[in-house]
Amino acid sequence: MPAVSYRIIAIDGPAASGKSSVARALAARLGFVYVNSGAFYRAITWSLLQRGIDPNDHAAIAQMIGATQIGCDLKENQSRVHIGGVDPVDHLRDDPVNRAVSAVSAVPEVRKIVTEKMRSYAQLHNLVVEGRDIGSVVFPETPFKFYIDASPEVRTRRRAAEGQRDEIATRDRVDSSRRASPLVRAAEAHVIDSSNLTIDGVVGEIVAQLKRKGLHEV
Ligand code: CDP
Ligand code: CDP
Repeated sequence: MPAVSYRIIAIDGPAASGKSSVARALAARLGFVYVNSGAFYRAITWSLLQRGIDPNDHAAIAQMIGATQIGCDLKENQSRVHIGGVDPVDHLRDDPVNRAVSAVSAVPEVRKIVTEKMRSYAQLHNLVVEGRDIGSVVFPETPFKFYIDASPEVRTRRRAAEGQRDEIATRDRVDSSRRASPLVRAAEAHVIDSSNLTIDGVVGEIVAQLKRKGLHEV
């Protein structure tokens, strides 16, 4: 029997560029599953903070990853991560998680397990996946790659408007300079500056590109 090849739309970009809002809306429009890879990195970070593990202790983090069950199911066509049997959804944007997540995400064992989870979803569903390394590392073969950006001022304003204390400039610096799968624009990614666009505006631009690239679901 021929292998079924599912469609993957990769959306990368820095913090508060609008990835989650856009990916969620796009997935709903196309009937694809929405996958938030950042939620996996945040869930792992939350769990190790709960256990008192230092976010800079790579060896302890790698050991925890090997010993902890990390699962993901789908709820209403969205990925939902649980770790050690707990769904940490209410804690993913806690301040301590915001502060520690970039250090934890730089650990290769952490990246490996999250990448495997993303790829296992792709065996079963059409996906819109958002993160930092989706087009460059997780699904380099997909022809549908987007990089959403916005000026640092606009992004800081967006986070503040959400009432969050989130040092996005620090996070972006660490995410872009780490050795393992840094935030980069994949060479073939279509870049969209969302500074002066609404979420619908960005989705519209992506849909136009997908039509041009022959994605028949749009
Ligand atoms: O929503 P926001 O852009 O603020 O962050 P997120 O997508 O939830 O990602 C949180 C953190 O997870 C990022 O700052 C990265 O350190 C890490 N991350 C990553 O390394 N690779 C990904 N594919 C997604 C997130
Ligand atoms: O996932 P990421 O951190 O890239 O961004 P997000 O959580 O989707 O967006 C951050 C905030 O900016 C949300 O409150 C969005 O509603 C808002 N936003 C906006 O006002 N205009 C856009 N074009 C994109 C996002």
